[in-house]
Amino acid sequence: MEKQYVSAAPAPECLPAHLGIIMDGNGRWAEKKGLPRSAGHTAGAAVFKKITRYASSIGIRYLTVYAFSTENWSRPQEEVGALMILFKKYLQDSLRDFRNDDIKVRFIGDTSKFSPDLKKLIEETREVCKDRTGMVLNIAMNYGGRAEIVNAVHEIAENVQKGMLIPEEIDEKLISSYMDTAGQPDPDLIIRPSGEHRISNFLLWQSAYTEYVTMDILWPDFVPGNLNWALQEYVHRNRRFGGV
Ligand code: FPP
Repeated sequence: MEKQYVSAAPAPECLPAHLGIIMDGNGRWAEKKGLPRSAGHTAGAAVFKKITRYASSIGIRYLTVYAFSTENWSRPQEEVGALMILFKKYLQDSLRDFRNDDIKVRFIGDTSKFSPDLKKLIEETREVCKDRTGMVLNIAMNYGGRAEIVNAVHEIAENVQKGMLIPEEIDEKLISSYMDTAGQPDPDLIIRPSGEHRISNFLLWQSAYTEYVTMDILWPDFVPGNLNWALQEYVHRNRRFGGV
């Protein structure tokens, strides 16, 4: 198997402005080691922190990580519970640890469905980070690309009904401004480790022209050198945005 590892990151001017990561393979990593799936999420969460700080250090401006999808609620209660505990721990940690990196943490998805204490932590994180000017980190929690589009359509329809918008004003730019990522560039690159080649409802509207790089490695084994490899792959892609 190819090593998918490069020791240095590409030059900052070649980097994607917005990088997305589907942090996949935690469960399989744990099962391979004879551990409960939750142990894979614990290992994956530590990698999340490390890769986030590394991405910020090399000059990525926007990073979106897929932490919990609208479909993940259907997992066994024990696994969902373990993930909620991890979210709390890592949000608490990131309030402290991301400060020196000036990382601005944001959330995309419907966070209203989480427990009161997790919602409080999410609000606190938003508040603490609001004036930061470094890399924007979007944590996708209870996120689904289709749900995001449905919400946008509802809001647009309501605004038309209220007379604040006329249907002729609805174009791609306007729809983008109703997405959870409003004001941010569309992702240039999405990385999916774990050998899967699916989109899994991640940033559906925003990824019309995104480059995809899938990798064989499982997320808990992912190290900065693997990110460098994916970034090198991206640098060599010829992006045509539908042109020639
Ligand atoms: C997918 O692997 C991963 C998840 C559903 C959870 C990802 C969450 C973290 C890494 C925690 C990050 C923490 C914060 C605060 C953002 P999987 O369980 O689907 O793996 P499998 O495909 O091998 O079963």
